[in-house]
Amino acid sequence: MLVLAIETSCDETAAALVRDGRDILSSVVSSQVAIHAEYGGVVPEIASRKHLEMISPVISQALREAGVAFKEIEGVAVTRGPGLSGALLVGFSAAKAVACACHVPFVGVHHIEGHLFASFLEQPLEFPFLALVVSGGHTHIYLVEGFGRYRTLGRTLDDAAGEAYDKSAKIMGLAYPGGATIDAMAREGNLRAVQLPRPLLHDGSLNFSFSGLKTAMLNRIAKCPVFIPSGEANDLCASFQEAVCDVLIAKTSAALQRTGVKRLVVAGGVACNSGLRQRMGILADELAIDLRIPSPGLCGDNAAMLAVPGNHYLEHGLASAQTLDVTATWDMDRVGEVLP
Ligand code: KG4
Ligand code: ZN
Repeated sequence: MLVLAIETSCDETAAALVRDGRDILSSVVSSQVAIHAEYGGVVPEIASRKHLEMISPVISQALREAGVAFKEIEGVAVTRGPGLSGALLVGFSAAKAVACACHVPFVGVHHIEGHLFASFLEQPLEFPFLALVVSGGHTHIYLVEGFGRYRTLGRTLDDAAGEAYDKSAKIMGLAYPGGATIDAMAREGNLRAVQLPRPLLHDGSLNFSFSGLKTAMLNRIAKCPVFIPSGEANDLCASFQEAVCDVLIAKTSAALQRTGVKRLVVAGGVACNSGLRQRMGILADELAIDLRIPSPGLCGDNAAMLAVPGNHYLEHGLASAQTLDVTATWDMDRVGEVLP
């Protein structure tokens, strides 16, 4: 099945053509990061307007790069939520319009479902598996029993890991979003130089909390300002990254051991992180786990990832009704409920 996938939940306008939920014919991502950087975060109204401007050119480019005409599309998959309502509406309306004009079915997919299955575009994994999703809005551990069958085992109680990276970068005076910058600086620093907290490390739950770590960064900078570039700034980044990774590794390890599941996916923008990728590799070797982390290009927001669950639903006749609407919030544990 040839699926057109569309993603506009936050600040990336993306479209992709994917065959059989596996072969990427094209994947176009138009990022608004530079526009929002000026404001230190995503401005929802600006995001919607930019999506509106870019959605048609991005879809056209995806078709052109794949060498595909509208009439060849057999189904459309699109992010239905969660995300910014105005932003979601742009992609969702475009998906409905294409589906209607081409007389093909469309399906609304959960954004995190896309992240969960991004690695399937490179190498699929058998069910059940555990998934750690770490992005700007999510730090969740899921048990994935099949398409549409997700159980949340742990989640952040406050900030997401990506949010902690971005806010800590802002505290240090680095540009938004600062996750990748901290990662690059951390590679040059001493990870034991600065003592930082590991929130909820030993609380016995699979939940996370990163707001205390952000406050510790704020207090540390207030007490002794760091200059960038400097060895001190690199040390602080390395120590911060080590604290985040310690918690992510410990909770993921506990989830694997508690459930006895031997397969793991790590996904979302923070899965680009070099320290996390390396340490997850070590954990997988220690526990004999089959580990999948998408290539960095598939970790962040893109449309191709949506075509994996989208293709499955469409092939099983689980298309969405034209009356379906977007949803700003959507519990992963309830995704199966809306499947007809
Ligand atoms: O999945 P994503 O592209 O968008 C959301 O759905 O949130 O994730 C974006 C997040 C941002 O917080 C960004 O700073 C973070 O991923 N990120 C990183 C790295 N690359 C992106 N965080 C740590 N290290 C990185 N290398
Ligand atoms: Zn995302």
